[in-house]
Amino acid sequence: MKIKVAPSILSADFNHLAAELKKVERAGADLIHVDVMDGHFVPNITIGPQVVKYLRKATSLPLDVHLMIENPAKYVDAFVKAGGDMITVHIETVNLKGLAAIAKKLKDRGVRLGISLNPGTPLLKIKKSLPLVDFVLVMSVNPGFGGQAFIPGAINKIKELRAIFKKDISVDGGINNITAKLVKNAGANVLAAGSYIFGAKNIKKAINNLR
Ligand code: DX5
Ligand code: ZN
Repeated sequence: MKIKVAPSILSADFNHLAAELKKVERAGADLIHVDVMDGHFVPNITIGPQVVKYLRKATSLPLDVHLMIENPAKYVDAFVKAGGDMITVHIETVNLKGLAAIAKKLKDRGVRLGISLNPGTPLLKIKKSLPLVDFVLVMSVNPGFGGQAFIPGAINKIKELRAIFKKDISVDGGINNITAKLVKNAGANVLAAGSYIFGAKNIKKAINNLR
């Protein structure tokens, strides 16, 4: 499978967001990973639909909106309207019925749906969701902040998932040139990375290294 790289703007310079998006777009990024946090599901607060609306104007790359929020169903419409092309919700925040309703809504609007799971959540928890989603986002850090160390337990999770899931497997947290190799070998094909990309002197080289 082709490896896709999704820079996470959480590590970008928020004083120059549009320029940061252009920079990673020119450097060969495939998607823009947008981390939305509510201060409830995770101990941090980041951005909402209002900012996504401006991100949408600043790039032609697909916006991959990672919802780390309680009650995601309440906000899905707003993020789609703001220009999200992909929406990821956490299994820790939805039940199967709720997820099915979100899946239907997104399908009607041509938006891709992902399910994510925290490092402490077993793969078993998302098994019934797999037929409803277009991709899985495996967390390799506890969500909340950029720049954390990769949790190696993600590797076996990705391997087991790859054996039963043929669509995109994305991995998020602590991805750098070393951990990228491990997760790609395990079967992941989409790499979300914040600090490794935006902290690099040469962004193009950093993206190529991940690929
Ligand atoms: C973590 C976020 C990640 C984060 C990745 O809660 O979901 O997307 O921005 O940052 P790095 O690559 O620095 O671990
Ligand atoms: Zn993320």
